[in-house]
Amino acid sequence: MASTHDTAARAAEVLVASNRGPVSYEVREDGSLHAKRGGGGLVSGLSAIGPEAGALWVCSALSDGDREAVRRGVGEEGVRMLAVPADVHEDAYNGIANSVLWFVHHLLYQTPLEPAFDAEFRRQWASYEAYNRAFAEALAEDAADGAAVLVQDYHLCLVPGMLRELRPDLRIGHFSHTPWAPVDYFALLPADIREQLLRGMLGADRLGFLTRRWADAFTACCTEFAGGPGKTRIGVHGLGADADFLRERSHRPDVDERMAALRAEIGEGRKAIVRVDRTELSKNIVRGLLAYRQLLDDHPEWRERVVHVAFAYPSRQDLAVYRDYMAEVRRLSEEINDAYGTPGWTPVLLNLKDDFARSLAAYRLADVALVNPIRDGMNLVAKEVPVVSDEGCALVLSREAGAYWELREDAITVNPYDVLETARALHEGLTMKPEERAERTKRLSAAATALPPAQWFLDQLNALREIQPS
Ligand code: F6P
Repeated sequence: MASTHDTAARAAEVLVASNRGPVSYEVREDGSLHAKRGGGGLVSGLSAIGPEAGALWVCSALSDGDREAVRRGVGEEGVRMLAVPADVHEDAYNGIANSVLWFVHHLLYQTPLEPAFDAEFRRQWASYEAYNRAFAEALAEDAADGAAVLVQDYHLCLVPGMLRELRPDLRIGHFSHTPWAPVDYFALLPADIREQLLRGMLGADRLGFLTRRWADAFTACCTEFAGGPGKTRIGVHGLGADADFLRERSHRPDVDERMAALRAEIGEGRKAIVRVDRTELSKNIVRGLLAYRQLLDDHPEWRERVVHVAFAYPSRQDLAVYRDYMAEVRRLSEEINDAYGTPGWTPVLLNLKDDFARSLAAYRLADVALVNPIRDGMNLVAKEVPVVSDEGCALVLSREAGAYWELREDAITVNPYDVLETARALHEGLTMKPEERAERTKRLSAAATALPPAQWFLDQLNALREIQPS
């Protein structure tokens, strides 16, 4: 498989591997390539070790633009993009990672009808293996003797085992950004697939999870299906919000502008219940809307006095089930607006267009933040809102979010399936006294920023380097 990298990139001392890399390319109308850099915990984590650390980020080409960049030999220093064939990537990413592994770890199947592990699944699984092998081979090629390799997420579960065989000298870590399934749910997978996934992960020297709960779930699966975790160490690293970045970014003029626009849309004197999500099936936006409707029924005094600001940004739109979910979010929002709206009041302000500055504006002005996922590895929105909030914000938080373990004392916690309880929690948040809200927000913000991305990354790297090669 072709790739963009020069010889200087070989013999890297620190390697990161993830499906989505820090840069993506677009072919412009005039045929030129436009590079777009992404953000997130890994990007700021890696920048913490500095350019002299000899780091290499191995990622997959995701789009035609990316594949064109690889073909033309265009690339960024410190990034190796793998030109995984589009059909192999489609099977591995959409077919296995997002339609099977994501579903298993987030408990998303409607089990009377799915999953059905048929011949098509086996065909896609072969692509998942090929895609993982492409990563293992690239890492084996570019890693210096004894280098540290940090493999990311459910897309690349087989890489540690494959890489161990190719390069026994390396120190291999894997980090899961998702929850891990409970034993009985993981058991839905065919026996050989379960074993392959666990053995692939256990090829690592060290596995990282966002919370103790997900780490324990993994260990339980190993005990049940793989004779235990063996020599592989397991660590917990609860990624926190990046306070410095957020505070600075949220006070730039573009955010101020959007705040003014949002305030005008919400209307004078009204409170705002804010949610911001990538529209993944696990985010539970639909039940959030149902709870809001329930609030308007149970407490008619809130009508005209509150607005639900829901930012639901598109994600994984190649999958029909994601598109259908988005359509349901839209339909229900309209239904609520039709049923309850008045000439001067739109109860739900739904916005589907990703706009980071506007998200920050909403964080700043929110009276209540609604974070009610069915299940979530961490959920950084729950951690970002208290950091950015201008005057304090009540946090309604699902007990199934990883962030629950760090924020539960000062959040209003809910069972994400319980619409009535969520409606009561929204009411409690809206009626919380300003002083209490401000106090809780201060404590939430401290807990949310306990482990900033740079430290989160360094802790993992150091822990991996401390392991003596066997
Ligand atoms: O939120 C969990 C997560 O696995 C992140 O680690 C990762 O960035 C993202 O989901 C993957 O999303 P996408 O399918 O858009 O690349």
